[in-house]
Amino acid sequence: MRRSKANPILDYKILVVDDEQGIVDSLSVVLKRSGYQITGLTDPLEAIEKVRQENFDLLILDFLMFPIHGDKVVEKIRQFNTDIYILMLTGHKDLAPPLETIKALDIQGYCEKGDRLDQLLLLVESGIKSISQMRTIRIFQEGLNKILQAVPKIYQLQPIDNILEDILSEILPLINSKNAFILVDDVTRISSGNNSIYKGIGKYKTEIEDFMVMLDPSLMEHIGSARVDKKVVILEREVIIPLINELQQDIGVIYVEGEGIQEGSKLLEIYASQAASSISNAFLHSLVNIKNDELNMTYDQLKERYMDTIEALRLVVDAKDIYTRGHSERVAYFAVKIGQSFGLSQEELELLRISGIFHDVGKIGTSDDILFKSEKLDEKEYEEIKKHPLKGAHILSAISMFKEVVPIVKCHHERVDGKGYPEGLKKEEIPFLARIISVADAFDAMMSDRHYRSKLKFEEARAQLLQGAGTQCTQTR
Ligand SMILES: [Fe+2]
Repeated sequence: MRRSKANPILDYKILVVDDEQGIVDSLSVVLKRSGYQITGLTDPLEAIEKVRQENFDLLILDFLMFPIHGDKVVEKIRQFNTDIYILMLTGHKDLAPPLETIKALDIQGYCEKGDRLDQLLLLVESGIKSISQMRTIRIFQEGLNKILQAVPKIYQLQPIDNILEDILSEILPLINSKNAFILVDDVTRISSGNNSIYKGIGKYKTEIEDFMVMLDPSLMEHIGSARVDKKVVILEREVIIPLINELQQDIGVIYVEGEGIQEGSKLLEIYASQAASSISNAFLHSLVNIKNDELNMTYDQLKERYMDTIEALRLVVDAKDIYTRGHSERVAYFAVKIGQSFGLSQEELELLRISGIFHDVGKIGTSDDILFKSEKLDEKEYEEIKKHPLKGAHILSAISMFKEVVPIVKCHHERVDGKGYPEGLKKEEIPFLARIISVADAFDAMMSDRHYRSKLKFEEARAQLLQGAGTQCTQTR
């Protein structure tokens, strides 16, 4: 049901003060006929109290009155009320208050009583127009202040439902409304088909199913046209504001019911543009999170699959030679222990562990005849076996997650005296972690049985390591 529009003039209250009852009466009749709310008084002192107690927009008062003149009345009123618009009546222009007094007391106009009343009416009308403009400016200022206060709240990074609730609760005071709703496209779930988010406040605080029942076809049409045209639709007591993001795309609508729709629509538009930005931000953040999660999941799956493959390959290497079985795990273990004694970070220790496990993975490319040979290898065979660090590096280079393992595996047979392979690097040219793997590798080899020799005792292995310091390996970082 549509309500009739409120008469705007009835919103304005005028106080008429003259010590002659006849003048109060006649002015009241004329002004009431024009639609204003009038209060008439003959006692100027009572008028001061009346203005103190009630909220009047405009005061029309006589200058020459008993017991105090009009200028004195204004002087007293101005001490507590600087807003009221004041028109002064004079019996004769020679009896008017001096111009300085009119200016000093902020009296907006005066008119002679002898003049025709339509001149006074014109003054009242222009006064009401100024009051109305001042009201609009004030409402706008207050509204802008409310928006400024609301903006940090609606921009907080939080779940989209909470943002929409905050947007709605902050919108109500802007135009003194109780009922509103917001309908937004959920860009994060468009592919799943459930692509609208609804939030209501006041009578619209319901589930979306109940809300759909409340929607009548004409309202749906208005919502549609607001979104398609990207323009505000102002109805008698409702306003529909499209939510437009930074890319000028429509992402939803805000619907608000209230009395001050006409005056407040500009404020609502300003607020809605802030709301649209905060909603876009929230969606963008969710999308980034979703993409990150997807990426992490894919990365984890990829890593898992690759580790499985490498592990299978490594087992093949271990299975090839009964003497080296378990060697990789032990190298990883010793390398981590050495790393810990150097106070390395968790990331570096993990790098050592992985490098230890995979340091000999390149041996899967070495033929069984060479790997299984019990006699001493000839030069050609030895050259072949020396290729395993590079082959391992190539295998691990296939995936970026092993990027940091590659140089360690590649250099695990380099020696600080430059006599190692594959490149003959010296001292600090060899990555520090590769030098640790090299020591761990040598130590485990010495502590294990080989088909060409028995394992050494711990003290012997330790002595050999110390002997090799500065040639095969290094004691410092
Ligand atoms: Fe090796």
